[in-house]
Amino acid sequence: MRLTILGGGGFRVPLVYGALLGDRAEGRVAHVTLYDEDPGRLTTVARVLADQARGVADAPAVTATNDLDEALRGADFVFSAIRVGGLDGRAADERVALAEGVLGQETVGAGGIAYGLRTVPVARDLAARVARLAPDAWVINFTNPAGLVTEAMAETLGDRAIGICDSPVGLGRRIARLLGVRPEDAWIDYVGLNHLGWVRGLRVAGRDELPRLLADTEALESFEEGRLFGADWLRSLGAVPNEYLHYYYFNRETVRAYREAGQTRGAFLREQQRAFYAEADRPGGAPGAALEAWERTRAEREATYMAENREAAGAGTRDASDLESGGYEQVALALMRAIARDERATLILNVRNRGTLAALDAEAVVEVPCLVDANGAHPVAVDPLPYHAVGLVTSVKAVEREVLAAAASGSRDAAVKAFALHPLVDSVAVARRLLERYGREHPGLAYLR
Ligand code: G6P
Ligand code: MN
Repeated sequence: MRLTILGGGGFRVPLVYGALLGDRAEGRVAHVTLYDEDPGRLTTVARVLADQARGVADAPAVTATNDLDEALRGADFVFSAIRVGGLDGRAADERVALAEGVLGQETVGAGGIAYGLRTVPVARDLAARVARLAPDAWVINFTNPAGLVTEAMAETLGDRAIGICDSPVGLGRRIARLLGVRPEDAWIDYVGLNHLGWVRGLRVAGRDELPRLLADTEALESFEEGRLFGADWLRSLGAVPNEYLHYYYFNRETVRAYREAGQTRGAFLREQQRAFYAEADRPGGAPGAALEAWERTRAEREATYMAENREAAGAGTRDASDLESGGYEQVALALMRAIARDERATLILNVRNRGTLAALDAEAVVEVPCLVDANGAHPVAVDPLPYHAVGLVTSVKAVEREVLAAAASGSRDAAVKAFALHPLVDSVAVARRLLERYGREHPGLAYLR
């Protein structure tokens, strides 16, 4: 199997390669092509991968290129992990929103809309190229905002575009651990959109074990989501929300914490990544030095993930178990194995709704448990969401649809509508100013007229 990684100079590529190195089974990925616009980043990441492969027999071969079409030809899987506008863009997304007093985050609220507006045109172009040059390939999308970007790619690629995120699986794992259940024995009833979903139950041997956790305040307050949301609110919901719902349920507090922080997440990562690429790029470095720098940087990135949210909630530091890798690359690997070898698996993925959530149309990309086999990902039937969740999910899907429409037509009015309809943007006047300011920051939004 041949895997092409778009955004191959990106920081998380070694996670994926590390997972591939551990896969010895027949039909595994034997060749990885890294594509990136930035040759310097490509060289650096290739150096980390070479460190990882040292001493591993039959390590997947790695080639790097900045020719997109060449990278796509012959691919069985295309992994899309690009960042349009780079971390500068992410920092601007956050800064502009916060200056207007609303949330600036790469996937939620105004920041996610700005990021979506500049990413969707690129994602559509990539999808068209895949359809032309590698029509049998499966596209696994990790580019954020992952649900929206997957939906844009699915317009052309249909069910061959599948979005992934590690947050549902991480949440399910944490709940299972607390309940003393092996994650592989549990059915996790997780439903929603990307970064906007809820675990409503966790069934083992036909019994829902979640009520046992909801009744136990001490256990609830011992894990990440329990500390973020508080035991009482989880009991009120009767569910455990994805951590990204903290931005909705505690919007005022998170916006305040983000405004008071010395640096936004994007600005922090921009500095952190700059230092990493400079260090790991040093020619003539000792063997293993690039990998060592990468591991150190990754540990710091994990430890500081959502730090402001945890601070706003008084939630303390992250658990050691949440700092390990094993999330996103394992989802990606399990998905590729299931498709390539018809190795049936159940995974929570971003796929087209069909009839899964009654409130949404068939093309809407949702994040739900799917059965995966050689024919792709099949969403399973789920219980309906309660009205409060339907409200959020349909509002945010309406916003995503305006982003898709604005990106297709270049209409500023549609873009303003996207901002204005978002539940975390509280005024049409703010929406207009946001678009105005984002337009000044991002050359990638010049298409909006
Ligand atoms: C989680 C989210 C991803 C996000 C990642 C890194 O895994 O599900 O969507 O890309 O965190 O976040 P960071 O703030 O470190 O870029
Ligand atoms: Mn995610």
